[in-house]
Amino acid sequence: LVIKTYKMNKLCEIIKPSDWHHHFRDGPEWLKVTAPLCFSQFEYAVAMPNLIPPVQTLEHANSYRGSILTHAGSGSAKPMMTYYLNMDLSPDEIYKAADVDYMLAVKYYPQGVTTNSAGGLATYEPVRDQLHAMEDIGMPLLVHGEQPDVPTVFNRESAFIESGQIRKIQEEFPSLKITLEHISTSQTCAYLWDVCRITKAAKLAATITPHHLTCTVNDLFTGCGIRPSMYCCPILKHSEDMASLQELAMSGLANVFYGSDNAPHTDAAKFRDGGKPGIFNVQCGLDCVIDLFTANGWLDRLEGFVSIHGCDWYGKQIPNSKVSIFLANDEEPEYIDKYKVGNEFITPMHIGKKLKYKLV
Ligand code: DOR
Ligand code: ZN
Repeated sequence: LVIKTYKMNKLCEIIKPSDWHHHFRDGPEWLKVTAPLCFSQFEYAVAMPNLIPPVQTLEHANSYRGSILTHAGSGSAKPMMTYYLNMDLSPDEIYKAADVDYMLAVKYYPQGVTTNSAGGLATYEPVRDQLHAMEDIGMPLLVHGEQPDVPTVFNRESAFIESGQIRKIQEEFPSLKITLEHISTSQTCAYLWDVCRITKAAKLAATITPHHLTCTVNDLFTGCGIRPSMYCCPILKHSEDMASLQELAMSGLANVFYGSDNAPHTDAAKFRDGGKPGIFNVQCGLDCVIDLFTANGWLDRLEGFVSIHGCDWYGKQIPNSKVSIFLANDEEPEYIDKYKVGNEFITPMHIGKKLKYKLV
């Protein structure tokens, strides 16, 4: 008989969290692993469109959503779908999505900056028609804010912000809502703070990942070895950047929320020359964030960051269900472990570590 002593250590109860940036991958082998892992924890989860071929029609989004739901294993799973932005995305497909509640947004990948971004864009000018259509129907733009061709990989995000693309898009499409995805630098945090100070009802939001929030580039290494499971785009940054992200996430600012960028790859795809960027953090993401907010005495702001702000930003109903957070105990330890997809393994973030919290 297992004595559930964790029940004595309840920290709080929050509205069920959502994940506003998630890569499920495609095909049953992947989805039977990724979909239940995601929806056992999250109410809404935004499915990124960087599949091969990318998601660019309502029909494709609908069939991908159907496959995710088939494997989700939870009655309340709400996959939110996105389109991949380039000239092949017809404005008609955007208009078709206007009244489809699960069609959330359109994703902008700069060309060549990350996994399956070869079809991305060098600049926004060629997709003005698409941006107009989005502005028309109130569909937000999700931006991977990195410039690929800069001297060091650490400056990709600052180069993108400094390129002025976001500012230009905002000037040309003033009603368009923009979410800066997985922000990773102090500079981007400052940019967001500025925009929010200047405009009360700012049209700009940001998602933050658990890895950028709690890790630095040092976590890419283990002693003198390298740890491919911690390689992602944007690359992990420095401690000052992490501190700015923490301050922003725990500030309670309403347009900042959780987006894990959970991005699994098989070990074969990762542990090689040219290994893929992407961190498989679905097991430990919330654990890391809860720990951060707890350690800093901001547990009362956790619910805003993981459960409420994203719903408000995207105009989605706040979930009815609640989750209790307990301190885990040593009688039922849960360790972060590898998962198998087909015959291959995926190595998660913080493999081997014990989860500190239990969500019920
Ligand atoms: O690290 C990343 N992996 N960043 C992205 O932007 C894409 C993602 C993926 O799809 O693997
Ligand atoms: Zn992503």
